[in-house]
Amino acid sequence: MVILNLIVVLLLNMEEKLYTFWPTNILHKKFKQHQKVRDDLLEFVKDYKNKVPNGKEGSENSNLYESQYDVVSYIEQYPCLKELINFIGEGFKEVAYFSNKHIWEIQKIDPSSVSAKITALWFIDYLQDGFVFPHIHSGCSWSMVYYLLAPNTSKKDTYAGTHFLSPLNKADSDDLGNSYSRETSRNIIPSEGEGLFFPSTLVHSTYPNKNDDKKIIFSANCSFFEK
Ligand SMILES: [Fe+2]
Repeated sequence: MVILNLIVVLLLNMEEKLYTFWPTNILHKKFKQHQKVRDDLLEFVKDYKNKVPNGKEGSENSNLYESQYDVVSYIEQYPCLKELINFIGEGFKEVAYFSNKHIWEIQKIDPSSVSAKITALWFIDYLQDGFVFPHIHSGCSWSMVYYLLAPNTSKKDTYAGTHFLSPLNKADSDDLGNSYSRETSRNIIPSEGEGLFFPSTLVHSTYPNKNDDKKIIFSANCSFFEK
């Protein structure tokens, strides 16, 4: 065995390059109109559930009501959905721009010529012990979750929120060279009125809802294309 001392400050020399591949960006963003539209969105959820009592069956779901992916088709009847969609669109555009701008630059793609298309919008009303198994979203590049009703986080429930799995393989060694990649998953707990925007390929799930408080989320998928 040979042991080398690490110099406190290391600089790359002129001939060296350090590549950073496959970063994972998650945008945590507040919906400023949340308080204004909260009750109307809850009314929409109630009306929808009355109209479509069985919701959507999903093999990844347990103890919850999930709507169909057709919530966008209700925007004319429920203006609150328009406000929510504006927020969702802003978040998708921000996270996609900051994640892709260097590649778009190389590919000579003008960001002002890029459009976002929300391909699906739905909601989930978690029942007692309801949860979603780890899964990804298909046919899109970015996904999001918005917390319309969130369990009271002051109760310090470490199982609330959305749980993300690292896309990197778990290191089997705990040496310090792995410090940057040791964290295999992260549970992010948004407050009511906040959204998380993340790559559709990122595996995510929720813990069983053990709260007395209701948990209702909206979720959406988005694709980007040149106009
Ligand atoms: Fe999901």
